[in-house]
Amino acid sequence: MAVSEAGKSENLQTTKLIATWLIGGVVLGVSALGVYFTFPLGKWRMKKKNRPVRVYMDGCFDMMHYGHCNALRQARALGDQLVVGVVSDAEITVNKGPPVTPLKERMIMVSAVKWVDEVIPDAPYAITEEFMKKLFDEYDIDYIIHGDDPCILPDGTDAYALAKKAGRYKQIKRTEGVSSTDIVGRMLLCVRERTSSESQNHSSLQRQFSHGHNQNSEDSGSGSGTRISQFLPTSRRIVQFSNGKGPGPDARIVYIDGAFDLFHAGHVEILRLARGLGDFLLVGIHTDQTVSAHRGAHRPIMNLHERSLSVLACRYVDEVIIGATWEVSRDMITTFNISLVVHGTVAEDNDFRKEKCNPYDVPISMGIFKLLDSPLDITTSTIIKRIVSNHEAYLKRNERKTESERRYYEDKTYVSGD
Ligand SMILES: *[C@@H]1O[C@H](CO)[C@@H](O)[C@H](O)[C@H]1NC(C)=O
Ligand SMILES: *[C@@H]1O[C@H](CO)[C@@H](O)[C@H](O)[C@H]1NC(C)=O
Repeated sequence: MAVSEAGKSENLQTTKLIATWLIGGVVLGVSALGVYFTFPLGKWRMKKKNRPVRVYMDGCFDMMHYGHCNALRQARALGDQLVVGVVSDAEITVNKGPPVTPLKERMIMVSAVKWVDEVIPDAPYAITEEFMKKLFDEYDIDYIIHGDDPCILPDGTDAYALAKKAGRYKQIKRTEGVSSTDIVGRMLLCVRERTSSESQNHSSLQRQFSHGHNQNSEDSGSGSGTRISQFLPTSRRIVQFSNGKGPGPDARIVYIDGAFDLFHAGHVEILRLARGLGDFLLVGIHTDQTVSAHRGAHRPIMNLHERSLSVLACRYVDEVIIGATWEVSRDMITTFNISLVVHGTVAEDNDFRKEKCNPYDVPISMGIFKLLDSPLDITTSTIIKRIVSNHEAYLKRNERKTESERRYYEDKTYVSGD
């Protein structure tokens, strides 16, 4: 029985092979009639066993965080190759208000996510029929993917209605715990508190936002409706984000450390350079306490686990230390067999050279420390400044978004029969 089944499938394979060869030959022979043959060839190609399933996901990816990365990871799991459309600055401005991060930086961020295979710049905010055709015909996309969160156009319609109708739509679950709106909310709250009463002790406030311990999610009294998320890190998520591979034998291990708060294009670019100097990039993420001690009580905006996930999602990173010490010790260098310790020229803690205890004293004395020219002049403070300077616009944006989400969920309850 098993033998005859195997024989049958072998026959089938042979037939397919001949068919492949024949179709190839015919098309080659009468390429002048290409138009005529395009359709059956396309059909045949779709059924071909070995063709990779290509999935498409789009987004603004403004203030990109581990929630976006997790969505991209889930999307990639629905196919073999993930193509990501990044929405243009102009389209974001029209639909949501001005973006914090310009397209150039958003492209760097999305391209650096290890589950992304291709990136399309200037994707439309809403999938038009024309763009969908382009995705299917030019980019060979099989399915369009989106989260189960609402994507409502200003006119109140569903942005993915067309793809759904065509039967080429697949959905992934929204990552709980964080959204760009939350992150903007965390920052605006901190700024507001600091300016309204300078004398107040902010460390408890900061701890609420960045450590996710607070029970009430409403921003009481502000009237903006900003929600503060509660992030519950699980070991499973960390495993999903990990490469799960140690350094190979004789690997040259490069070490870089930092807060990596509000992970941005500047971080990506320095990690890319650092990875290029060796075979394995180990990234030390400082604890929340260490960051607060060196950058002020209102930092970090993202807690240790959130920061670790963002760094882990980056394709240039091989492993992270979740809670690295401020000083790079001899013991650490030995334990991880570190060959080179690097640090970017553009960083918020470049005062370290003036400090009594330079955290890089040991690697400097060992002759394995290197200062790298940061390709981009962006720090976490740059990002915070951009948001604060657009304070009013963001408040309005948050309000509008909250309102449209409320409307969507009301509608959703109303039509829950289908
Ligand atoms: C601020 O809070 C921290 C931690 O709770 C505490 O150690 C410190 O004494 C407080 N400072 C003031 C001025 O209340
Ligand atoms: C430590 O790293 C060096 C490269 O810098 C490598 O040659 C050596 O094999 C590594 N040692 C171990 C035990 O892996």
